[in-house]
Amino acid sequence: LEVDWSPESARKEGYPHFMLKEIHEQPRVIGDTIFGFSKDYEAAASTLASSGNIFITAAGTSFHASLYFSLLTARLAGKKVIPFISSEYESYANLANKEDVLVAVSQSGETIDTLMALRSFKERGCKIISLTNVIGSVISRESHLPVYMKAGPEIGVAATKTFTTQLTALTWLSSLVSFYTGKIGRDELSEIKGRIMKLPDLATRTISRSEGWARRLSQVISSRHSVYYLGRGLGLPIALEGALKLKEIAYVHAEGYPAGESKHGPIALVEPGFPVVFVSIEKNLERKLVGNIEEMKARGAFTIGIFGEQSELVSRVDERIIVPSSDELLLPVLETIPLQLLAYYAAVAKGYDPDKPRNLAKTVTVE
Ligand code: AGP
Repeated sequence: LEVDWSPESARKEGYPHFMLKEIHEQPRVIGDTIFGFSKDYEAAASTLASSGNIFITAAGTSFHASLYFSLLTARLAGKKVIPFISSEYESYANLANKEDVLVAVSQSGETIDTLMALRSFKERGCKIISLTNVIGSVISRESHLPVYMKAGPEIGVAATKTFTTQLTALTWLSSLVSFYTGKIGRDELSEIKGRIMKLPDLATRTISRSEGWARRLSQVISSRHSVYYLGRGLGLPIALEGALKLKEIAYVHAEGYPAGESKHGPIALVEPGFPVVFVSIEKNLERKLVGNIEEMKARGAFTIGIFGEQSELVSRVDERIIVPSSDELLLPVLETIPLQLLAYYAAVAKGYDPDKPRNLAKTVTVE
């Protein structure tokens, strides 16, 4: 009998990998993040509500959360938020003025590209708000208004719990911006808070519902060369994140696209058996997604759907997972979970260590 007593294995608390442990920690850390919604969030939101232009910047997974914030804030508060990838900051800094605000999103708070973007906007007199997971990190120190998620340390290189806590934090921030711009009143704001507070329980149920599904489907996905992840509206950032997870740990080529864009080029690669994952969040966009599903099926694609309850797309795809809610504010977090598990089990099926993907560092500190 061989028992692994190493400190690393003790820290995994019985899970084979940190990534799986961190996926399972999500209900708790989402709860901690909600519990940590502080006055700082209100200060950040009131600054955003009265600012000139709002920019939001980040890299990788944190950029997907930023894109989500931009889409949600347009919808909830009618405010324009300009998202950009932090390594591209030179192309955006010229647009920045003193009355503008930059939101810098980084779980580590140390990513050099995001820090450089922050510094260049700060030099131009912009106010800087940051969302990080690490108190005292350089990005939080250099910002005027730091706010935090409470995901706890993330060891796996692939961001999981830090992404869903970012989404949770940014959903609240966006709701507060909507309040401070006068779009919604105090009652509606507390009603939204009540909905967000359901996330920990729903995330627990989503994990147990998704495990077997992801394990089974990973057998198909892990043997393919390429997978598309398509979404519309709020589903797009989640589709992009699903694709990033699969490529970074399972080394399967994966691309996320706006579903409507797929026929402008990507569909050329689709042949019988090509897996296409559809992420549906917004009810009123489902009619258009039906068309995109049909286009893919006509080319013999193997279609997979990530849906909320009451989705009308359930019978349209070959394989599906239905997360236990139909609330469009909560679906982005919940629909991320099966995508994380799918990538995780695909990596394991191929014999890779999902905690230490090749060529990747947890925090990128060179430009
Ligand atoms: C995510 O799985 C990646 N490891 C990577 O894209 C990461 O999100 C990116 O490097 C940004 O890191 P940050 O949030 O610490 O700034």
